[in-house]
Amino acid sequence: MTSAPLVLGIETSCDETGVALVRAHPDRSELVGEAVASSVDEHARFGGIIPEIASRAHLEAMGPTLRRALEDAGASLEDVDAIAVTAGPGLVGPLTVGASAAKALAVALDVPLYGVNHVIGPAAVGELVHGLFPVRLMALVVSGGHTTLLRVEDVVTGVTELGSTLDDAAGEAFDKVGRLLGLPYPGGPHVDRLAREGDPRAIRFPRGLTAAKDQERHAYDFSFSGLKTAVARWVEAREDAGEEVPLADVAASFADAVADVLVAKTIAACEREGIDTLVVGGGFSANSQLRELAAERCAAAGVTLRIPPLRFCTDNGAMIAALGAAAVRRGVAPSPLELPVDSSMPLELVTL
Ligand code: KG4
Repeated sequence: MTSAPLVLGIETSCDETGVALVRAHPDRSELVGEAVASSVDEHARFGGIIPEIASRAHLEAMGPTLRRALEDAGASLEDVDAIAVTAGPGLVGPLTVGASAAKALAVALDVPLYGVNHVIGPAAVGELVHGLFPVRLMALVVSGGHTTLLRVEDVVTGVTELGSTLDDAAGEAFDKVGRLLGLPYPGGPHVDRLAREGDPRAIRFPRGLTAAKDQERHAYDFSFSGLKTAVARWVEAREDAGEEVPLADVAASFADAVADVLVAKTIAACEREGIDTLVVGGGFSANSQLRELAAERCAAAGVTLRIPPLRFCTDNGAMIAALGAAAVRRGVAPSPLELPVDSSMPLELVTL
């Protein structure tokens, strides 16, 4: 009896080197091993990701991270049946390091290679936790670089982008507000923590693209840059008046505005599209205000919420291996060995 294919996933689109092994059973995907190395500390003093530093860190981490993931799985390279690697979107240098490693391994092991989409990964990783997805679902992918609403008829062959942020991503807005409030980089988790101590109803910040006039063209789009500016103006006005800034209330009211818009638009999309399962993924899905509000409003709307545990929220190899396993299970044609990386890979393209 042959066992289910073992898929090696490699993720290097930003500052995390993620490697994981997922077994593609006919009726489920099983995570059997994983490892991650992060260069986030090397970027902190610059207040943002420096692509060249990230690329070098991926290069140094690739071998050891691969070995750790294999050890974790109790497997050797010869056991690998297919390789999935992030082909885009992301930073070209970091993506190229991962793609080069994946191609070298695919040639050496003589196994198929799948170049997969980083933004769909967070939508696929839930299959490792919640079982294979139903046919139709809504996916909200929120991170430092993306805020995207996807209608998923099939996680490999049927993804449609319904809307996206027109300016800042949700995580990016949190990082910018974090800087404004004097919190360390990346500010997202710090703003989240501070917000839990404040009153979300203390200040009524604007909800971007929710006015009636925006519903025709931007019902499913997001905008957070006006909100970020409103927070800056509010804080400046207090400081100019010599008043103390209630940091926790500012953080809580800001976080509430972001979560409110994300959840309201997503549930409206589920209702209009007649979809009753919602998957939330991406680094920002660790946000506690979003998790709480989504749970509350999905329950009220009769929508089943699938939101992965925190360890799957940041960039990791498991999401890429999970997407690779979904491609293998469907018998999708592998990518060519001259697979390019695409920093702005369209979301409708799940595999290249
Ligand atoms: O997907 P991800 O790991 O990578 C990028 O897209 O960069 O997302 C990281 C983003 C950062 O902006 C980070 O500040 C934000 O997600 N983030 C959070 C929380 N955890 C991570 N934002 C708010 N609350 C959190 N708990």
